[in-house]
Amino acid sequence: MNLSAIDRDICFRMRRVARIMSDEHRYIEDMRATLCEAIWDRSITRARDAFNRYRAAISVHFAVEEDVLFPEIGFANPDEKPEIERLVQAHDRLLEELVEMGDQLESLAGEDFSRRLEGHATIFSLCESNEEALVSRVAAAGVS
Ligand SMILES: [Fe+2]
Repeated sequence: MNLSAIDRDICFRMRRVARIMSDEHRYIEDMRATLCEAIWDRSITRARDAFNRYRAAISVHFAVEEDVLFPEIGFANPDEKPEIERLVQAHDRLLEELVEMGDQLESLAGEDFSRRLEGHATIFSLCESNEEALVSRVAAAGVS
């Protein structure tokens, strides 16, 4: 297939974005591990600090995806718009849950908070896998 310069540029940038996204997802997972350690150490000050950083990192990560990445993908690949809408809805639910979790950090028992964090992390991972698959599809489009 003969790709236009614009198509080649999109493919190139999507491959770069895929690497950056994977790095960011791992960085967020590391932040969650730090949060888990603080919870298990019963260090509420460290847990609060780690939680606030974790929530801020996810919030910024989602904002960049929604404000920069997804619009570009949707413009270049209108067929992906339903998937983008599902991802944005998943982001909204994940952010809402983080707000609730933030309100409960000091009041929930460590085990209960950890269970809730684990559930959140599972949904976050699924969402991030779907994002990486989306970017991979766009990056591969027309290349093969
Ligand atoms: Fe992401």
